[in-house]
Amino acid sequence: MEPTRSSADACDDGSARGGLGLPRVIGHRGAAGSAPENTLAGFRRAAEMGVRWVELDVQLSADGVPVVFHDDRLERTTNGRGRLVETPLAALRQLDAGAWFDAAFRGQRLPTLEEALTAIAGLGMGLCLEVKADEPRGGRTARVALAQARQTWPANRPPPLVSSFARSALAAAAEAAPDWPRGLLVDSLPDDWAGEARRYGCTSLHTRAGELRATLVQAIKGAGLAVLAYTVDDPGLAETLWGYGVDAVFSDRPERLLPIAEGHTGNL
Ligand code: G3P
Ligand code: MG
Repeated sequence: MEPTRSSADACDDGSARGGLGLPRVIGHRGAAGSAPENTLAGFRRAAEMGVRWVELDVQLSADGVPVVFHDDRLERTTNGRGRLVETPLAALRQLDAGAWFDAAFRGQRLPTLEEALTAIAGLGMGLCLEVKADEPRGGRTARVALAQARQTWPANRPPPLVSSFARSALAAAAEAAPDWPRGLLVDSLPDDWAGEARRYGCTSLHTRAGELRATLVQAIKGAGLAVLAYTVDDPGLAETLWGYGVDAVFSDRPERLLPIAEGHTGNL
């Protein structure tokens, strides 16, 4: 199905937001509230809703193939057992990654990064690529994932925004893809958020919505960083955050936020 676009969002190129072309709403793990997270069906569902960017999580299989998956273990979102990083690709590909969510999604496979990037670019969407790795795996995960991403992502499209909780992944991303933007992803803001962002050459800071207040958002933006907040499904909270100057929110329920994102000028 041809993706729909809300008119105001389509006109809003996001150029004021750190020059990243960010939309107001980023589909979290696709559209995780209405389709199984981090699956091709989820990315398609996001595009059908009119989502302009999605976020995904990338990790390495036991045999070093970048795959799109959030958890450490397989149980919650597949019919498999064990740790993802200890499972080879061939075994991961046997798993069902859709039926746990709804029988209608039975048969969804755990995507490789290559498949996901091809699908997302083909749907005309932008991407926040989160490198998901506990230390000390961050550096290798970023190097392998970005080698794949640079090969697959069309050179004529705006590059993905690469984020990670793992500082070693950000450092590796700065070497492997210096011209792709990076986001410092945190669970709670470190005291020296500005220094950390500078150290890894980040152009954005991604944090939990509950961490943010108007003065803090203004301070972060004053330091030249775009501000992204996760995970926001409530329209009222989204309005408040945009009002603070938050550039974009990650949402499992983008369909709830897109109608009010229209024409929202925030506090840019
Ligand atoms: O990238 C934003 C958000 O996805 C970070 O948290 O645990 O949902 O990957 P998590
Ligand atoms: Mg994530």
